[in-house]
Amino acid sequence: METILKKIDMSCLSSGDLREAAEFIRQGKLVAFPTETVYGLGGNAYDSTASARIYAAKGRPSDNPLIVHISEFSEIEPLVKEVPDVARALADRFWPGPLTMILEKSERIPKETTGGLDTVAIRMPSHPIANMLIKEAGVPIAAPSANASGRPSTTKAEHVIEDLSGRIDMIIDGGSSDIGLESTIVDLTVNPALILRPGYITIEMLREVIPDIEYDKAVLKRMKDDTIVAKAPGMKYRHYAPKGELTIYEGDMSRVSQAIRASAEEMLKAGHTVGILTSDELLGSYEDLRAINLKEKTGTLYIKDIGSRDNEAEIAAGLFDALRYFDEVKAEYIYAESFTEGGIGQAIMNRLMKAAGYHIVTV
Ligand code: TXA
Ligand code: MG
Repeated sequence: METILKKIDMSCLSSGDLREAAEFIRQGKLVAFPTETVYGLGGNAYDSTASARIYAAKGRPSDNPLIVHISEFSEIEPLVKEVPDVARALADRFWPGPLTMILEKSERIPKETTGGLDTVAIRMPSHPIANMLIKEAGVPIAAPSANASGRPSTTKAEHVIEDLSGRIDMIIDGGSSDIGLESTIVDLTVNPALILRPGYITIEMLREVIPDIEYDKAVLKRMKDDTIVAKAPGMKYRHYAPKGELTIYEGDMSRVSQAIRASAEEMLKAGHTVGILTSDELLGSYEDLRAINLKEKTGTLYIKDIGSRDNEAEIAAGLFDALRYFDEVKAEYIYAESFTEGGIGQAIMNRLMKAAGYHIVTV
């Protein structure tokens, strides 16, 4: 299949730019588009064949439901059995934006779109391209993250091309996603409401609207434990995993960098390709490893600095790109520093721990 690549100049975005993409959606074709969180792989949410195509293009298990995207609050009505007051209150506060709500679904949404569930996940994205595409299409757009199943979500059109070119009808290139981590998912069909996936909208922010909201147990797990099954079907799969073996080091930062240096040195001397995921603060501490790197018969070292620990938004925005970078350079062993778990840090560590298969070393 030929995939059309449509580059958009954000400084003069007009609905004409998205006319063909919208037409494609109405015809049951698949269009990848940018959102403020990550890129989405969109199809008509009312069309069960389009949903089936989405699963096929991603290689995604068909029991893993899709998020339905809307552009106005009123568009929620036909998708759900009823709109609870709490959904209205959350929407007033956080929509358009990086929040997904789970509600009881209406008959209108086919089971293919919701992975067989009686509930539906709904989000109103704030990205102007996403918003305009939904409006132009005139139908709600079902869109999972636009990555091949199991790989890190895509935050740039280049990532989407890498994973899905030749498998979908169009990719809209609108530059990098600002947030870089997928939306916060809140289940409103249970009492108390539960956070199924942490994201940019934190538990503290949500508690201003729903004081008793809690995390789903699976969100807080810190080790591989098959007795804790995630409520969001997609959260139970191995995810975001780079091809190399990723280990997270946590503890006092100077000990963390010391432990990473020791492990990296050992693997480099054994001739392996090694990646280090670091921050501005610790970048300098790996300098001496580069010298080993220059000697003969040692492996190759790739260091990726994803920004300052004081700027969690920057770390969130660069995380998936960094994981993809280690695949590109074919890193066999990847050592990552840990980040603090409050605020957006909760979402950063959630994705990083999943990517590492909960392989965490405390030093
Ligand atoms: O930021 C985002 O949410 C991005 C952009 C494109 O909007 N989308 C995204 O979709 O991350 P996806 O499919 O990669 O992740 C959706 C998650 C999966 O873990 C899925 O299992 C869960 O939402 N989910 C969807 N519908 C659900 C439902 N009815 N009940 C429980 N979990 C649901
Ligand atoms: Mg995904």
